[in-house]
Amino acid sequence: MTKEKRIGIFDSGVGGLTVLRELYRQLPTESILYFGDTARLPYGTRQSAEILQFVREILTWMTESGVKMVIMACNTSSALALETVRSEFDVPILGVILPGARAAVQQGRRIGVISTPATAASNAYRRAIMEIDPDTRVWQVGCPEFVPLIEQGRINDSYTYEVAREYLAPLIQQQIDTLVYGCTHYPHLEPVLRQILPSSVRLIDPAVHVVAAASRELELLGLRETRQPLPTRFGVSGCPQQFAQLSRPWLGYTPSVEKITLPTLVYEPVRNASAE
Ligand code: DGL
Repeated sequence: MTKEKRIGIFDSGVGGLTVLRELYRQLPTESILYFGDTARLPYGTRQSAEILQFVREILTWMTESGVKMVIMACNTSSALALETVRSEFDVPILGVILPGARAAVQQGRRIGVISTPATAASNAYRRAIMEIDPDTRVWQVGCPEFVPLIEQGRINDSYTYEVAREYLAPLIQQQIDTLVYGCTHYPHLEPVLRQILPSSVRLIDPAVHVVAAASRELELLGLRETRQPLPTRFGVSGCPQQFAQLSRPWLGYTPSVEKITLPTLVYEPVRNASAE
């Protein structure tokens, strides 16, 4: 493994740009490979077996592309696939949930988590937070409409504001003091959420903390690059032009985006022991 290699980061779409932004800020000399699985988003309303399959395909492509580390810039993948795939690939793989949970318990006692329905149903945040501090209270809300609205560029619609009010209402009622963005798309909604939440509620963006963890790990492994980075390489499974256009306001430039065909992996179905 050499330090000149890229760090791979992936998401279903533009959500991972919130992690990319942190990489640019905290690790400006690292070269990045970004993948958005835009042909198959949203992930957050899919079954865990599908997510696992997608994640294996993405990691196979990324490792074949020669990355030195992978950051899952996607909570749904981190919640449903990280533990399984970590031992299957020969690169360090980091997820967003544990760094997010650690940051949340340092800030609050009454913690709300907004996420995709799949992440909420997995209970990954509650488990991670309670393991660190069992006295903390945690409320999780699945928000199925947020990712499609963000991917359609509808952040400033009054409909998005109405939907956000509905999702946040039970958390405001519980008087949360801290809110975790349990989906990497959601920091894009900050201006909307800030209008609805009491000003005392602290917002936790796990992207900040996963990149800090990646920085420590690269240092430990002797893989930290300090020279000029290569331009970020962007790939998507869906329409490159659409991704380039949507990501422009967040990147501040129009990226050149490749269409990627991921390797198709065929896995043996798990046999049902009782049927034998
Ligand atoms: N941004 C991803 C996450 O953090 C995936 C959202 C989706 O595709 O539903 O969960």
